[in-house]
Amino acid sequence: MMSQWTELEKRALAELENCRDESSVRAWNAKYLGKQGEITTALKDIGKLPKEERPVFGQEANRVKQALSDAFDARLKDIREKEIEANLNTDAIDVTLPGRPARRGRLHPSTQTLRAICRIFNEMGFQIYRSREVEDDLTNFELLNMPPHHPARDMWDTFHTSTPGVLLRTHTSPGQIHVMRENCPKPIRVILPGMCYRYEAITTRSEIMFHQVEGLCIGTRVTMTDLKGTIIAFARRFFGANRQVRIRSSYFPFTEPSIEVDMDCIVCSGKGCSLCKGTGWLEIMGAGMVHPVVLKNGGYDPDRFTGFAFGMGPERITMLLHAIDDIRQFWANDLRFLQQF
Ligand code: DAH
Repeated sequence: MMSQWTELEKRALAELENCRDESSVRAWNAKYLGKQGEITTALKDIGKLPKEERPVFGQEANRVKQALSDAFDARLKDIREKEIEANLNTDAIDVTLPGRPARRGRLHPSTQTLRAICRIFNEMGFQIYRSREVEDDLTNFELLNMPPHHPARDMWDTFHTSTPGVLLRTHTSPGQIHVMRENCPKPIRVILPGMCYRYEAITTRSEIMFHQVEGLCIGTRVTMTDLKGTIIAFARRFFGANRQVRIRSSYFPFTEPSIEVDMDCIVCSGKGCSLCKGTGWLEIMGAGMVHPVVLKNGGYDPDRFTGFAFGMGPERITMLLHAIDDIRQFWANDLRFLQQF
């Protein structure tokens, strides 16, 4: 006669055969081998047996328990392997398919303009000099001929830091002082590109951060004619060979005389249109002959040396070039805008 244990073993193994996935195998395990499983429950009856039958009962129980436990392990392993195999078949990767094309990045329109400006001035013999964005009041204003409370300081609304006298530069002009002090008394021909910051209301025409490119040329025979020639050469290289340049007198504390430079409108060539607001001219930079006080502050003897300087805004220039009507686009990180350049 089949013992109680052999019968349980047969039944359990047959049931295990029908388990097709991991969760049903685990449920089977709980049903037979778990804490409240059939084997544990059946073992509780051992106390009711006559003493001499107990050892055989116990041995049989252990044998069946071991057999089921081995069968469980084997079945689980088998099911897992089958699952992996099925995954490999359904999720097969076709390595012969062509790859996805990598999207190429591009340079920011301001960077493109900055590089074009630098290239043109490099060819005219100007070196590139980078100077700090965090400046002191002394260099940003005082040494550029603007003592404390000088009314011209109002031309630059300034971000001050919590350290007195330390600020974000409002223009690249303080770089002039650094270059002069590093190079005095050698002649200088540099451009200084970089970011500037102003505490201003953001509008379509003004941002709180923007680039400038400063130019500085110092020597013993540098004149206004050199300034004019340099600007005209730049305008024609950058905007087109037929560009006309107009010079107006202006005021900056660090130049004397000071000028502002206009160029005939690239859209209407001077006839008047919406870009130039009917004037026929577009403003491209401020400039002038370096003020004797500034030369002296840079270490140069104003009786022997003269120099010219200029400053322009690459974002403004890029706006003119591509008829962009809102300067806020430059730092809005909108790919629809950026991908056009
Ligand atoms: N620093 C001036 C500004 O931010 C621009 C400028 C004007 C720079 C005349 C110069 C200059 O070097 O000569 O408005």
